[in-house]
Amino acid sequence: MSSRPELQAPPEIFYDDDEARKYTSSSRIIKIQSELTERALEILALPKDGVPRLLLDIGCGSGLSGETLTDNGHQWIGLDISDSMLNVALEREVEGDVLLADMGEGLGFRSGVIDGAISISAIQVDFLLFHYLFFLSSFICCKMFNH
Ligand SMILES: C[S@@+](CC[C@H](N)C(=O)[O-])C[C@H]1O[C@@H](n2cnc3c(N)ncnc32)[C@H](O)[C@@H]1O
Repeated sequence: MSSRPELQAPPEIFYDDDEARKYTSSSRIIKIQSELTERALEILALPKDGVPRLLLDIGCGSGLSGETLTDNGHQWIGLDISDSMLNVALEREVEGDVLLADMGEGLGFRSGVIDGAISISAIQVDFLLFHYLFFLSSFICCKMFNH
């Protein structure tokens, strides 16, 4: 079976208690999430005036990316579909507030409330799972109708 999480199960199933702990304790993952978050901050290009911004971390997981936001002096709200990942974030006493939510259902923030948003290694999980299921169902249909 593929080692890619997005090809194994929906994120709220894949990131269970065991996987959430394993994920959060991997030094390789910690480094990658930190580096990608630094890059996301560069791309956001927030004013360098020392004023903390309120950022949204979409698919915040156990808060590894959020920690880099904290290290850069920002406040953040994280949302994630996996309650196991969020429980690990709470145990780790991350500085951000975390919410159980599916990004696909909309975010519910009024315009202007958030200064910026990041999403690190989260969107491809849903995107690839969608495409995988789409091609699998197309393949099954072709077989059924002998195309
Ligand atoms: C590879 S982890 C990255 C987590 C986070 N960036 C970090 O630094 O720990 C991907 C996260 O995206 C979350 N995710 C995937 N699809 C989601 C969705 N539709 N809504 C909210 N979170 C989602 C997963 O539950 C998982 O915690």
